[in-house]
Amino acid sequence: MTVQPSSTAAAETSVLPASLRAHAKYLLNVYARPPLMFTHGEGCYLYEESGRRYLDFTAGIAVNALGHADPGVAEVVAQQARELVHTSNLYHHPHSGHLAEMLVEGSNAVRPGTFGKVFFSNSGTEANEAALKLARKWGKTQSAGKKTSTKTGVVAFSGAFHGRSMGALSATATEKYRLPFEPLVPGFRHETFDDIKAVNKAITEDTCAVLVEPMQGEGGINIASEPFLRALRKRCDEVNALLIYDEIQCGLGRTGKLWAHHHYADDCVPDVLTSAKPLANGIPIGAMLTSDRAASCLGLGEHGTTFGGAPLPTRVGVHVVGRINTPEFLDNVTRVGNQLRKGLEDVCVAFPELVAEVRGVGLLIGVEFRQDPSRFVKLCMERGLLLVAAGRQTVRVVPPLTVGETEIAEGTRIWREALEALDKERVASA
Ligand SMILES: Cc1ncc(COP(=O)(O)O)c(C=O)c1O
Repeated sequence: MTVQPSSTAAAETSVLPASLRAHAKYLLNVYARPPLMFTHGEGCYLYEESGRRYLDFTAGIAVNALGHADPGVAEVVAQQARELVHTSNLYHHPHSGHLAEMLVEGSNAVRPGTFGKVFFSNSGTEANEAALKLARKWGKTQSAGKKTSTKTGVVAFSGAFHGRSMGALSATATEKYRLPFEPLVPGFRHETFDDIKAVNKAITEDTCAVLVEPMQGEGGINIASEPFLRALRKRCDEVNALLIYDEIQCGLGRTGKLWAHHHYADDCVPDVLTSAKPLANGIPIGAMLTSDRAASCLGLGEHGTTFGGAPLPTRVGVHVVGRINTPEFLDNVTRVGNQLRKGLEDVCVAFPELVAEVRGVGLLIGVEFRQDPSRFVKLCMERGLLLVAAGRQTVRVVPPLTVGETEIAEGTRIWREALEALDKERVASA
């Protein structure tokens, strides 16, 4: 299970039903979860034990791109489970190579020559760990001949979330995630996201990599400006550092293009890209895509994993990428994304005391509130709409990429009702 940075509601252990209380005794208490027990899903909906239906605009935090219990995914999982689940990386099987080819060729069809090689992991965190190890090795390779390499620095940015392992956490600036676990890995520095002024000073000859989410998810749906990414690319070239895009949340169709960075100009391309969440629609998988140039610095045995790139997740990945990376599918994400954003804007405009801004690209949408939105998230949940917070005051709207007009109408209706309820509470407490 992925450790998630935000919850749909505050922990309410005192009101847990008996079945949940029994389980809570055994589960490590690190997740703040509402007292709901989901037993199955279908498309954009999740169903509780009681049969109550919830419209899921979290999609497992941008994971279930093709929705829940998708028949195509279910068929591939069942078929592959009957054929071959795991071999370890001691041996070859056809599916990891097939998926790697689809990711490389699919990316290069948009930006020729960007990527050449793929490493598969089991999660986003591990994809970032692979990228950080590659970067450190890259730095060492560039310092060949010197007694000790000083090219070990990694520059990352405020608001970003890169994962919870010691390396990925070292790249994550937000203090609430870092402080309990310090000291972390040395050599990381954090700059202000989207601040071009800091770029030249922060990225030096001692920098081996810059790690950035071009569109931040957990940080509150913050979209990097093109000049910022261009400045990072230019500076990385000047000092021979790797530019790594973490597209674990914003990539793979969520913004209406294969990768979020495809919304930017050619001179904003990365050397390395990490992907995970939707890659196998919920079967754990992560991937690091790298240019041939960067890949060449890692040799045999220098990185690896038991489960990463196994037959089951990569075969499902082949199915998922095959369905997402078509012009029709991606154009539809843009179309429904615009529709959903416009629907939310139309509703929110009547509540200026509550909502500051609706922003986003495709189906990566954030609604910034004027205060902590957890009460609003709860009011929506009570009315059958699931949402997840991001950053300090933002609600993320990241439904399955297959969301349709009926679900958008239902979601915006519940959104309006919850805002009305929240506004009544605001007036009553004034
Ligand atoms: C941008 C980004 N990077 C990395 C991660 C970590 O991925 P995982 O939870 O699969 O380890 C996340 C998870 O939320 C993420 O949003």
